[in-house]
Amino acid sequence: MKNVVSKLNRDGKQVSPWQHTSKIPVIHHHENMVYDCLIVGAGITGITAALKLQLAGKTTLVAEAFTIGYGTTGGTSAHINTFADTTYTEAESAFGKEGARQFAHAVNEGLNLIRKNVEEYRIDCDFKILPGYLYAEDEEQVKQLDDIYKGAVSVEVPVEYVSDVPTNVPYQKALKFDGQAQFEPIKYLHRLAQEYLKAGGIILQYTKIDEVESGDGVHVAKTGQTSIKAKSIIYATHMPPGINVLNMRCAPYRSYVFGVKLKDDKYPDALVYDLQEPYHYVRTHVINGQKLLIIGGNDHKTGHDDEEAAFADLEEYTRQYYNVDVVKYRWSSQYYVPVDGLPYVGEMPDRADGIYCATGFNGNGMMLGSVSGAILADLILGNANPLSQLFSIKRFKPIDGFTEFVKENADVAWHFVADRFKAEEIKALNDVETGVGKIIELDGKKVAAYRDEQGELHTLSSVCTHMGCTVKWNTTEKSWDCPCHGARFDIDGNVVTGPATVNLEKVNV
Ligand code: FES
Repeated sequence: MKNVVSKLNRDGKQVSPWQHTSKIPVIHHHENMVYDCLIVGAGITGITAALKLQLAGKTTLVAEAFTIGYGTTGGTSAHINTFADTTYTEAESAFGKEGARQFAHAVNEGLNLIRKNVEEYRIDCDFKILPGYLYAEDEEQVKQLDDIYKGAVSVEVPVEYVSDVPTNVPYQKALKFDGQAQFEPIKYLHRLAQEYLKAGGIILQYTKIDEVESGDGVHVAKTGQTSIKAKSIIYATHMPPGINVLNMRCAPYRSYVFGVKLKDDKYPDALVYDLQEPYHYVRTHVINGQKLLIIGGNDHKTGHDDEEAAFADLEEYTRQYYNVDVVKYRWSSQYYVPVDGLPYVGEMPDRADGIYCATGFNGNGMMLGSVSGAILADLILGNANPLSQLFSIKRFKPIDGFTEFVKENADVAWHFVADRFKAEEIKALNDVETGVGKIIELDGKKVAAYRDEQGELHTLSSVCTHMGCTVKWNTTEKSWDCPCHGARFDIDGNVVTGPATVNLEKVNV
């Protein structure tokens, strides 16, 4: 079998430390074959689901629009926790005690699944069990911390108050969660992909699914000049493509991360989190023999804030508390916040039967992506999975999720109106500076214009092809990001992140 050596690409210009090369065999699929399942997206969710299905005897194929791990798995900060961004107190208020208990079980299952795979396949991916610390810096945060403690105790997640946290930041009160973990996500993912191939699975990289036609129990996914037939489809792409119910239930966010070499050796041998809004997270990873502080945070809604300002703030914070020698890496990544706090996993209610997806993992994609992949496989295999009810896309929690729901959707609605009828930035074409993207008005139409390093202008329609919001320039990743549901496009308008499926229209100036 011929191997192709491919370097992991990511959905942005910044490079994460996990971007290395891998050998993926080139396999040709049979166009007339009807697979049991087509998995769209080769991140941690897709590959976990594909491996489980293939090992259970199903015929499967993974179609990835770019390279394995291109999306958030290639840009994660790779924390593996037993507590989540949605606290167990919040989960209990929205889903009751049993719901919160099941959620805690799901988070733990995600961690166990990764650990089990690491052990079973002897994956050399820097997997390490470590304690996690969460600390409060003022009275308000102490209340939050006490609340998190009560919620964790209530669902029997091991936690204790401690007075010694490996951080340089002054704090008032802190919690310790034992049994957390970290790993190198792409080494893990590539190895899982190899096991999947060994089991007879097929991975097609650079294979974008353009559209799907469904009928007579078979879905035909078109890709370029060819098509893939399957009885079921899993969209493991965070947001499934096109307009669907999840657009109104999940909000896209971006998070920022640095890999920093310190002058001293004060690297924490732990995972450490604060309770600021937005919060910061810190851990240590040895990359190419060099210890690095992996420090992240400053999250904001995609397309809403200045990305360079987010990096500048994070750098200032890092330098305030750590003795920085050099910043070796800086990158950002995208995740989706669900309105009621829990992921959406299962069959899509507004598509033909047999089309599934998983999204809304918040900042906990490694655990929740893994466990969601397993849930989706179980749904297709007809296995009972107690978590499938809790995470069902068909659930509706209008009361408890109401405040967040209104906030997120009022914001989306504002963009629908404002973006379509008011130019936010009207600039002359020749004002567009090198390396910068701007929305300008030309002949009464808003145009997304970017001038590359050679001085050439790339001009596109600024109207997102998903539902018509105006895209915003992402300075750091050199992409056009949609503030409504998080679609992203490169400088030539090509889709790099869904739910949009159609490229931005080129504008000839
Ligand atoms: Fe929905 Fe752009 S992603 S309008």
